[in-house]
Amino acid sequence: MMPLQRGGEVSKARAKIGKVLFTREDIEARLDELAEEIEQHYGNRELTIVALLKGSLFFTVDLVRRLSLPVRVDVLEVSSYFDSTSSSGGIVLSNYLVRDVRDRHVLVLDDIVDTGVTLARTLELIRREKPKSLAACAFLNKKRRRRVDAPVDFYGFEVKARDFVVGYGLDYAQRYRNLPYLAVLEKQPTARGTSRRRAARKKPSRRPRASKKKGRSSPKRSSARAKARRGAARRKGSTGSRRRK
Ligand code: IMP
Ligand code: MG
Repeated sequence: MMPLQRGGEVSKARAKIGKVLFTREDIEARLDELAEEIEQHYGNRELTIVALLKGSLFFTVDLVRRLSLPVRVDVLEVSSYFDSTSSSGGIVLSNYLVRDVRDRHVLVLDDIVDTGVTLARTLELIRREKPKSLAACAFLNKKRRRRVDAPVDFYGFEVKARDFVVGYGLDYAQRYRNLPYLAVLEKQPTARGTSRRRAARKKPSRRPRASKKKGRSSPKRSSARAKARRGAARRKGSTGSRRRK
């Protein structure tokens, strides 16, 4: 193999992996149960899976291999987060490959349902194609973050609203999908953020303090100081004269 040339390295780690919520074993055990729940619901009907890429990639592969009913698999690339940890509010659909779902039992697989915007919008699009039935299965459910009504018929685990999680297909800025477990992402201050905060801390107050070094004050400031000194001398003089009287 040719040795790799320099370049393409990840420059600075700006986030680190925190607490592991579900290990590989936890996930595998839960997927066994989930596959059983799905089979019980659909019986021996043929199922058309629509996987929402890229987050549900790992989940889809592992879940579909556990299903013994007849399955067709389709994909749809959807994104709603743009390298951040909060929802952008809108979704972008690329690779809109969903065809041929009319009169079929469709099960949408998603990585995580957060605000519900992505799932609700996707279900709406698929519903237009007139499937026989339409349901959704998410690997993770952040129930308390829901902003729109998005029915999640099956899900693997519930996660806390405050946790941004990565691993097992879930990313932060396209990284960490390959972790075999699910963990909380601990955000680190970025280099820019840190210096901005440092700069804010150092920000001078509105009234500039007079420099202690001689000869460094501006002519404006020194004339102000001279004025104050003259005023003080005048007051001192007048008080003294009153006393003398
Ligand atoms: P929603 O439209 O707000 O429900 O967002 C759904 C999408 O946001 C998911 O398919 C994920 O790609 C992403 N997302 C939401 N929460 C997380 C998280 O905790 N980790 C990683 N991605 C997340
Ligand atoms: Mg994502």
